[in-house]
Amino acid sequence: MKVLGLESSCDETAAAIVEDGTTILADVVSSQVDVHAKYGGVVPELASRHHVINMVPVIAEALERAGLGLGDIDAIAVTRGPGLVGALLVALQVGKSIAYARGLPLVGVHHLEGHLSAIYLGGGSAPALPHGALLVSGGHTSVIHVLDHCIYRSLGSTRDDAAGEAFDKVAKLLGLGYPGGAVIERIARDGNPQALRLPRPMPKKDELDFSFSGLKTWVLNWVRENGRPTGAALADLCASIQPAVVLSLVSKTRAAVQRMGAREVQLAGGVAANGALREALRQAGEEDGFQLFVPPPRHCTDNAAMIAAAGYFRLVRGERSTWNMNADANLPLPG
Ligand code: KG4
Ligand code: ZN
Repeated sequence: MKVLGLESSCDETAAAIVEDGTTILADVVSSQVDVHAKYGGVVPELASRHHVINMVPVIAEALERAGLGLGDIDAIAVTRGPGLVGALLVALQVGKSIAYARGLPLVGVHHLEGHLSAIYLGGGSAPALPHGALLVSGGHTSVIHVLDHCIYRSLGSTRDDAAGEAFDKVAKLLGLGYPGGAVIERIARDGNPQALRLPRPMPKKDELDFSFSGLKTWVLNWVRENGRPTGAALADLCASIQPAVVLSLVSKTRAAVQRMGAREVQLAGGVAANGALREALRQAGEEDGFQLFVPPPRHCTDNAAMIAAAGYFRLVRGERSTWNMNADANLPLPG
């Protein structure tokens, strides 16, 4: 089954064609990073407008790269939430239009379910079901028990900022632009992670929720006292920020994995592109006896191949969305 996946929930306009939930025939992502960088974050109205401009060309490019026409597509999968409503509506309406015009089945997908399905792409090794997951993106930070395809149970989430959001806000404070995670990781390579002692954001031991707002406040106060750092001081600050985020993520994941009794765990979402986090969680797995699976970095950040994969698992269960399907900014993860 060849599924055309569409994604426009935030600042990436993406279309992909994936066969049977695993084989990528085309995977096109048009990033709006340059549009939003000067504002230090995504401007919703600008995101929607650029999705309108880019969505159809991105689909045309995906079809061309796959050497296919719309007549070869068997179904459409589209992100229906969570995300920015105006942005979500673009892929949703285009997906509905194509499905209506071609008489194709249509299925709406939860964006995080997409991230959790990226691990099945490309024929690499994937965790068996059920398994544990740490999902870390710009909008979400959750430890999730993946019980089956399409069935999830969240064990803990962030109480305030998401991990990616914390990186982005700190990067903005330091004048490093948007998105911040990759920039901080790059600058951190030249710094000393022990240079500064940041608060380790960990609420009570027996709770599985995360909190990152204290980190942002700490950096804000540091910059007020010391000014914006450059050179070696900036590298030391970035190098000290990274372990503070990583330690909190890894310790809560270890506790959650123990509670689930999971032997296999996946790391998903944009922040999963972070090398320090990947390595720390892999090591934790070695110590605790779980195996870690992580998609390649380009499938950690937003893309439509993951949406096509997630849609496939719903379609083969016979699920179809109706024309009434709407965008939902706060769509809960399907349980
Ligand atoms: O999953 P994603 O592409 O979009 C959302 O669904 O939010 O995640 C984007 C987030 C941004 O906050 C960005 O700063 C973060 O992922 N990110 C990283 C890295 N690459 C992207 N964070 C840490 N290290 C990275 N290498
Ligand atoms: Zn995402």
